[in-house]
Amino acid sequence: MVGLPARGKSFISQKIVRYLSWLSIKSKCFNVGSYRRQGAPRPSAGFFDASNKEAYRIREQAVAQAVEDMMNWFSDEEGVVAILDATNSTKERRKWILRLCRENSIEPMFLESWCDDKDLVLRNIADVKTSSPDYKGIDPDVATADFLERIANYEQVYQPLDTTDDRDLTFVRMINIAQQVIINKVETYLESRIVFYVMNLHIKPRYIWLSRHGESIYNIEKKIGGDSSLSERGLKYAKKLPELVRESAGDRDLTVWTSTLIRTQETAQHLPYKQLQWKALDELDAGECDGMTYEEIEEKFPEDFKARDEDKYEYRYRGGESYRDVVIRLEPIIMELERQENILIITHQAVLRCIYAYFMNVPQEESPWMSIPLHTLIRLEPRAYATHVTKIKADIPAVSTYKGKGTSRVGESESDNDKSLHVLSSLNSK
Ligand code: ATP
Ligand code: F6P
Repeated sequence: MVGLPARGKSFISQKIVRYLSWLSIKSKCFNVGSYRRQGAPRPSAGFFDASNKEAYRIREQAVAQAVEDMMNWFSDEEGVVAILDATNSTKERRKWILRLCRENSIEPMFLESWCDDKDLVLRNIADVKTSSPDYKGIDPDVATADFLERIANYEQVYQPLDTTDDRDLTFVRMINIAQQVIINKVETYLESRIVFYVMNLHIKPRYIWLSRHGESIYNIEKKIGGDSSLSERGLKYAKKLPELVRESAGDRDLTVWTSTLIRTQETAQHLPYKQLQWKALDELDAGECDGMTYEEIEEKFPEDFKARDEDKYEYRYRGGESYRDVVIRLEPIIMELERQENILIITHQAVLRCIYAYFMNVPQEESPWMSIPLHTLIRLEPRAYATHVTKIKADIPAVSTYKGKGTSRVGESESDNDKSLHVLSSLNSK
């Protein structure tokens, strides 16, 4: 990363890591600020003055340690994408990084966030900096003044990337979020994927609502897949949904995304918003097992049943899909979600788990086992370093379709697992 303080470098880094990890690309962020805090826990602005020799030594030590750990991570843990999250504000520093990367056969790409919108910088400071560990116990106004001085110190030495001097470097320059993006020598597939992703990011406040369809006839019959209609109780949920959404969204305008299956469209039928159907939101395809109960699957395909319990993320139904397959087909949905503002998605158990896993950074071993009960509206609020979750229960009874590990019966242990949603939400902060 390259950029002055409070330009969203950590924000962008964390998002890239979350996105790539969700796509099973091993990624990690090395935040130099946390290394620096070991030597200088709560420095004032003067610490960032380039002429402060002792401070400079501590800062160089911090970046050297971060880079060493990063190189070890590449070699010992077979990491694929590391992000060195620091200001990396001088040509000299970037030259040093470039050299180390080349020596270690690492392909570097520089991503600069440039922003001259003073109001936005002030908002960023209020949003995340005054509450950072650097200013623990300090009055927010004093912290803001000090942080502005810190930025001024960086500005003394800051050298932006430029298309003349740096024309041999692979770099992306994002100007005022993504108002203008300069792309230089981006050559590999992975680099271009990252560039495309960051170009789609925005920071406007917004919500994303997620809901499974209402209880379906197949849910009652304990059958998976299919294209059945809603049960009586499912229809009640559909009727109540506009009120639940209004209570949570107020008079915001939003767009509803459903799958192409009858049960999600019946669930959306009373919602007074624009609606869009996505094939990519259809439920995980159970192939030959479509329309069967888990008990029937265990009886007819005992080895498959066991294999799925052992590795639910990777297991692909005969003639159908795995969770990994679903994640891959959901990628355009995630990209579009990043671009959009207020969206309500009505989809299915497995698909919703995958979308939730992206926003909440849930690891692959856990995401297929998360409990997402019927008749519950989930509201996600993406914030700078975390996504806040609110669950709104409709108070309309429904069967549980949750199947725990090692059993073919549904409904057992759902209440225990239900808690995981809350636990995960509180863990997902910087
Ligand atoms: P520091 O160098 O002090 O670590 P930083 O550049 O890493 O600062 P962040 O901590 O990521 O800055 O700042 C987060 C804030 O930046 C959030 O409020 C977020 O909304 C905002 N933000 C995200 N992307 C951008 C961007 N491209 N330009 C400006 N601000 C952004
Ligand atoms: O039971 C409802 C359902 O949406 C099925 O159609 C689907 O096969 C299943 O949930 C996915 O959940 P799991 O991956 O836990 O079997």
